[in-house]
Amino acid sequence: MNQILVTGGAGYIGSHTCVVLAEAGYGVTILDNLCNSRAEVLARLQMLCPTKLEFIKGDIRDPVLLEQVFKARQYQAVIHFAGLKAVGESTVQPLAYYENNVCGTLALLKAMQHHGPKSIVFSSSATVYGDPHAVPIKEDFPTSATNPYGRTKLMIEEILADLHRADTGWSIARLRYFNPVGAHESGLIGEDPLGVPNNLMPYVAQVAAQRRPYLNVWGNDYDTPDGTGIRDYIHVLDLAKGHLSALRYLEQHSELITLNLGTGRGYSVLEMVAEFERACGLKIPCRMGPRRKGDIAQCFADPTRSWELLNWRATRGLAQMCKDAWHWQCSEKLRNE
Ligand code: NAD
Ligand code: UFG
Repeated sequence: MNQILVTGGAGYIGSHTCVVLAEAGYGVTILDNLCNSRAEVLARLQMLCPTKLEFIKGDIRDPVLLEQVFKARQYQAVIHFAGLKAVGESTVQPLAYYENNVCGTLALLKAMQHHGPKSIVFSSSATVYGDPHAVPIKEDFPTSATNPYGRTKLMIEEILADLHRADTGWSIARLRYFNPVGAHESGLIGEDPLGVPNNLMPYVAQVAAQRRPYLNVWGNDYDTPDGTGIRDYIHVLDLAKGHLSALRYLEQHSELITLNLGTGRGYSVLEMVAEFERACGLKIPCRMGPRRKGDIAQCFADPTRSWELLNWRATRGLAQMCKDAWHWQCSEKLRNE
């Protein structure tokens, strides 16, 4: 069985990708230090996977551990999710972000160069487009960053490009995610942010669950039809399947590819709230607030290249995203009672 090493596989996107990989017949080993995920998730994740998952608790910045991991087993490829991802936190603790994301990726790549596979799928982000001059966003649009988190993604993208330039034996996918939401339909895995959620959907779900009194809508004076920000929300399982497609592509091509993973459709904050209200049958109280620093009006993908190259496209709509997010929220509540 072809074995894939999934760094950060206990996290939100990683866990869903592990299910998709296991269902497709790959063996999966997770390497995660659990700095933003919980060990309990692993047992539930195992229930969704037809084959036994391997779990290594450890840090991608640990070269000794990485050497052991790659010597102990032959991996076909690495899917690299491990990283810190909170934009606001990155402005307060930039060094932690450069250390974890950039140095961690360097340590991983060095270990792969010496002992591991030369094939990697990397979690990049639509944040690398900065404030785009137009929408939908194509992969060849200019890149920029407005915060340390975004800069780590840009730096890693550059490191990967240099690596491929130096040695074309590497197979590299830089996947730029738009806004992943939703959860596995079982309610067993999903997004479980620690503390106050930064992102819209987990916040809306917590308001619906009466864990928070109302949603702050950050700005209703943007140049959009209802004045609120527009984003490209993509179901996390569609995103996970994009990784499987990229992995399969890299099996056949030792190339560097850069792809948008989005749906190609943008929805406003108020449209998302209305859809979530339909899914949960409850009213989500909202309060209009000022614009959030660093936010942009509109961000949605042109996913044409992913379709042409990978034959991949998102299939789940907004109703499914909200239904699954709500089911996950209710299931978590029951488990915590
Ligand atoms: P997550 O925090 O749920 O998962 C990341 C996992 O990596 C966690 O389980 C964490 O414990 C682990 N981790 C972090 N640093 C590590 C280290 N040094 N060694 C080992 N494990 C480590 O985040 P997610 O939402 O699943 O995001 C996965 C990746 O996708 C991240 O790189 C993130 O930057 C990127 N991304 C996420 C989004 C989003 O909106 N969720 C959007 C674009 C890109
Ligand atoms: N929003 C609110 N209230 C909230 C949270 C968000 O009104 O409590 C609004 C935002 O202003 C924005 C929209 O909802 O208009 C989406 O905000 P998110 O924080 O959910 O998502 P972002 O597009 O700002 O950023 C996310 C990740 C980034 C990533 C980017 C693209 O946080 O790390 O998607 O993938 F880079």
